[in-house]
Amino acid sequence: MPVTAAKVENVLFEDQHPVPSDSRAELMIGLQKKQKQVNPKYFYDARGSELFEQITRLDEYYPTRTEIAILQRHAAEMARICGPDCVLIEPGSGSSEKVRLLLNSLRPAAYVPLDISATFLYESAVKLAREFPWLQIQAICADFSNQWHTHTELPAGRRVIFYPGSTIGNMEPAVAQDFLADLRQWIGADGGVLIGVDLHKSEALLSAAYNDANGVTAQFNLNILDAINRVANADFDKRSFSHRAIYNQQLQRIEMHLVSEKAQTVKVGDSVISFNKGETLHTENSYKYTLEGFTELIEAAGFRLQQSWLDEERLFSVHFLSVNPR
Ligand code: SAH
Ligand code: AVI
Repeated sequence: MPVTAAKVENVLFEDQHPVPSDSRAELMIGLQKKQKQVNPKYFYDARGSELFEQITRLDEYYPTRTEIAILQRHAAEMARICGPDCVLIEPGSGSSEKVRLLLNSLRPAAYVPLDISATFLYESAVKLAREFPWLQIQAICADFSNQWHTHTELPAGRRVIFYPGSTIGNMEPAVAQDFLADLRQWIGADGGVLIGVDLHKSEALLSAAYNDANGVTAQFNLNILDAINRVANADFDKRSFSHRAIYNQQLQRIEMHLVSEKAQTVKVGDSVISFNKGETLHTENSYKYTLEGFTELIEAAGFRLQQSWLDEERLFSVHFLSVNPR
């Protein structure tokens, strides 16, 4: 297992090569379903990570700026609850932008960003390390939907998972519950989870956030076809699919799809997949929670809500979860 000391002294980078050879089989299973689907983790190749960063800066995409404002406002209190010298682990760390808001108050013993997007993770860790030379960073490139682990030893200290961005919303609620329950192995009985969750709101606001006027979300959505082409030796043509994002009121989730503009066949490895005109490939769900619904979810996963912070418009929420003694 390669553990690379980066050129910057305070970064260790461990690449677990999370897009394994069985990805092709995983993709095929999704493409052969009645409603064709793909795991949204495939969005995040180098280009996808860049496009997501652009999304976070869009006027229509309220979650990032709203969560940042909550973190800025309550950083000191969040740091007090996490406690001194904790080991802060961030699954799906992306650009590690949000953790910057906590670091000076928190002063963790180590920060462990974990992401599937290798180059983006490495570059983000090095940038952060230069800005915070006192911070020990142990970056792990891994797939958090599989059992993850680290080959490098983490320092002692209370373990806190930092999981902002409502990335939890991209999982089916049952999967999210299992994911949270699994986190308890990482943090032990005295650990905690600081988690950002997007809230249920008007369809107009939600729809605008996933159908931005500049078409950045459309590019992000279509980019997954390039990733599939690379991973599964496929020949999807982005020009014959279009972006669709709709709010599913009943399931309280935004669904992103790619709509086939015509009847067509696509080669995927040695197989051929057919699309009817108007048929869709379902690429992502983004669940929106009520406070009650989220509380139910975390309690079922063995946590209790210790503290919640919301913006004034109640668009977004950040919570500190502690482990419920069984
Ligand atoms: N935490 C950041 C980024 C959120 S975007 C923020 O709040 O802004 C979601 C991030 O999760 C991306 O960086 C993506 O690469 C990562 N990701 C998505 N699925 C993943 C998986 N299965 N394993 C590891 N990382 C994943
Ligand atoms: C990372 N995740 C929480 C984003 C979301 O809002 O569900 C991904 C995204 N998809 C479209 N825009 C942003």
